Amino acid sequence: MTTSVGGLGAASASLPATNVRPQAAAVTSTAPSSATVTMPQGAAFQGYQPTTVDLAKGGTFSAHNFDSTRHTVTSVDSGSDGQKLFSVAVNPGQTLTIPQASTLAPGTYNFYCQIHPSMKGTLVIDGSGGGVQPAPQSFDQRLVLPPVLTGSKLRIPIKRANVQVLPTGPATQMWTYGGTYPGPTIVRPAGHDTKVTFVNHLPKSVGALTVHFHGDHHKAANDGQPTRHLIRSGDARTYDYPLTDNGRPERAAFDFYHDHRMDETARNNWFGLQGMFLVTDGKSKKLGLPGGQYDVPLMVSERSFTSTNQLVNSFPAHPKMVLTGPQAPPNDATVGDHILVDGKFAPYLNVAAHRYRLRLLNTSPFTSYDFALSDGRPFFQVGTGNGLLPRTVVRQDILLGPAQRADVIVDFGDALHKRIQLESIPRVNRPAKGIGTPTASIMQFRVTRTASDSTRIPSTLQAPPKITVPTKTKAAWSFDLGGNAQTGTYWTVNGKPFDPNRVDLKVPLGATQLWKLHNASTMTHYIHIHEEQWHTISRDGKKPPPWERGLEDTWRLDPGETVKVAAKFTDYTGVFMIHCHMLDHEDHGLMAQFAVVKPGHGLPKGYYYDKSASAATAAAVPRQAAVRLASDLDSIFAPTSGGMPSMSLAAFSTQPAFWCDLGRGRQASRTAIRPPKQEI
Ligand code: C2O
Ligand code: CU
Repeated sequence: MTTSVGGLGAASASLPATNVRPQAAAVTSTAPSSATVTMPQGAAFQGYQPTTVDLAKGGTFSAHNFDSTRHTVTSVDSGSDGQKLFSVAVNPGQTLTIPQASTLAPGTYNFYCQIHPSMKGTLVIDGSGGGVQPAPQSFDQRLVLPPVLTGSKLRIPIKRANVQVLPTGPATQMWTYGGTYPGPTIVRPAGHDTKVTFVNHLPKSVGALTVHFHGDHHKAANDGQPTRHLIRSGDARTYDYPLTDNGRPERAAFDFYHDHRMDETARNNWFGLQGMFLVTDGKSKKLGLPGGQYDVPLMVSERSFTSTNQLVNSFPAHPKMVLTGPQAPPNDATVGDHILVDGKFAPYLNVAAHRYRLRLLNTSPFTSYDFALSDGRPFFQVGTGNGLLPRTVVRQDILLGPAQRADVIVDFGDALHKRIQLESIPRVNRPAKGIGTPTASIMQFRVTRTASDSTRIPSTLQAPPKITVPTKTKAAWSFDLGGNAQTGTYWTVNGKPFDPNRVDLKVPLGATQLWKLHNASTMTHYIHIHEEQWHTISRDGKKPPPWERGLEDTWRLDPGETVKVAAKFTDYTGVFMIHCHMLDHEDHGLMAQFAVVKPGHGLPKGYYYDKSASAATAAAVPRQAAVRLASDLDSIFAPTSGGMPSMSLAAFSTQPAFWCDLGRGRQASRTAIRPPKQEI
């Protein structure tokens, strides 16, 4: 929806200042006085052309985009003012000059695309004399943890508040849960009912809100439905979270809560409607994991700011799911140029020479990060967001997309007086078309004191609950792009964009089901399933990696990938969502619904079941001709009173939109997929 490319600068100087190239004497410089970098067709995978651009000091640097996708040319380094040395967004077909390049001192400057961070280039400025120089990332403000709420009945006003996000200049006005960004961290013991009343004090123009408790198991009415059970302006709504599963306390978890409003999820999260939620039990303590002051939740999220430190707002007043133009899918990407941790840009945290439990959560709308520590220190991953792993996994880097979490131990025991940065590095082992990650120095740990440490990092942690996984796949969900450039594009699940009244699958309450998730598109998605916590049965026909052997609710699916997941549907009937957690994709169609029903019962009122092209049909019929929707979408999407697109069922029933294609059939026969294990 919005590609927010501000002129402001960067969380990126993990690389030392890069103008280290020996300077040529001015008279012998042969660099041209103007140069152009281009983005060829398929630039997301081909990269810039050329990858190294020579330019005489003071010369003109231009960018031209031959691709059908939007790209940026953004310097890795920032200047001493904290702003990116240069950054422009170039629409398909567009040529732009990059005026800041003319002011640079001689040297070597790396640049990348904020939307496709694996695109990389280098600008070499030749000549002599001074100019604007890169500055190393500094960490100028202390990390501040959000306030903690522990009560069983909580009241959280949703209101505007000024938040000190950047180290200098004015505070940033945000939309907040309770006056802070992130909102208060709710910490509650498993099994203890928790009622949270949210009161919508935001300006009327923001519209109704809805709060989703991501990763938790609760009634459909308390799930943050996009068009139902809303919190209208001035109203309050109480969400009831029993924190139980199947009559027992649920497992401890590191979850979060955030807005989930139809068409507005990216905007509402961007402006600040995000907070963390920890469900606790005695298990971590028993295992000897670090707790108390040594347990630090870190919400990582990026934003862009105006010159007065306000959030860049490039969200349309009347958002549409189907779009034309430079920001239509697959170019929809809300990216920021400042990476925040717990709402602060480039913070530092004074720590003891002790083990710490860090809870990493990515709430960026679009961007993935491959987290690493600057001195090569490992993370000991003990959990996902959804509780502990069966065994500790030693990891040098951890890739997290939007909504993904990692629960890690970092041992600072030998690091007294050291400064260690949490970084994002270029994604390790990135498959050809998989999403890339930015290079950035995100926060700094300053080991300032000693402390005696009685914590442990056990190798055995907690097995996931046992379920009996059926051999037959009950539902298949495939994710792709639909439409065309003339009439508009949108993201699809099983060939269809989201319709809040449509249910694609009925699941009998009490069933344990095996589902298949498949990415048929050419870009990575992060697929989130509401309500249950899932066992990852296989990834591309193989046993999932050790860090995916706990429970999960959000999976990375690189192009062509297939992940099989299984869960038991307990306690609650009703309608729940499955969607991509890249918020632009979610708002632009990549969402669908399933209903948990009592055997013999129908759907709740107001929903219809699309049997013709459902996830269940797709699972049952492995071969179908692919039919992509290419009809005139204007006739399908009729505006409604709420400004929300609504869909005519008739239009779709004449356009069968099965997800399956022959290509997948071939792929299945090529890859021997072993039957999933029965007991896990
Ligand atoms: Cu965290 Cu449906 O989302
Ligand atoms: Cu997506």
